[in-house]
Amino acid sequence: MAENLFISQTSDRKKIYDEIAPQIAALVEGETDLIANLANVTAALKEAFGFFWVGFYVVKENQLILSAFQGTVACTRIDFDKGVCGHCYTTKEIVIVPNVEEFPGHIVCSSTSKSEIVLPVFARNGEVAMVLDVDSDRLNDFDETDAEGLRKIVKIIEELI
Ligand code: SME
Repeated sequence: MAENLFISQTSDRKKIYDEIAPQIAALVEGETDLIANLANVTAALKEAFGFFWVGFYVVKENQLILSAFQGTVACTRIDFDKGVCGHCYTTKEIVIVPNVEEFPGHIVCSSTSKSEIVLPVFARNGEVAMVLDVDSDRLNDFDETDAEGLRKIVKIIEELI
């Protein structure tokens, strides 16, 4: 397993997603501990893009419960009908929020967070097993490039669960 990431010094996010996806696949290959793998995925995303917050909320006890993350402390439990994460869980779709203040029911974990993207991570039975939440300290920081790039990384995790 490679323990250093190679990341080009570029602002071209698509290039970085294309670069890190195979490296993340190599990073998790052969490791069976899910938390260890989720932790490394969040670290890789934080290192590659400098996002303010990157983490997983896992479906457990009828809620979304905080799992591996990189960033400031966050709320630990989210109801399925609450927040951007809950919206992602119930719609089973990628949610891009350009301005968190304009999303009804957004859960404020940090006032530094200005925009966010949340992706569902599917179990083999088609149910949402967890969500990947990425927050930025800048408004309107996520678009289709992030949705596609992060989706590729989520697929790597789906292979593990
Ligand atoms: N903002 C999210 C809650 C999680 S934190 O951003 C880490 C939400 O509204 O679901």
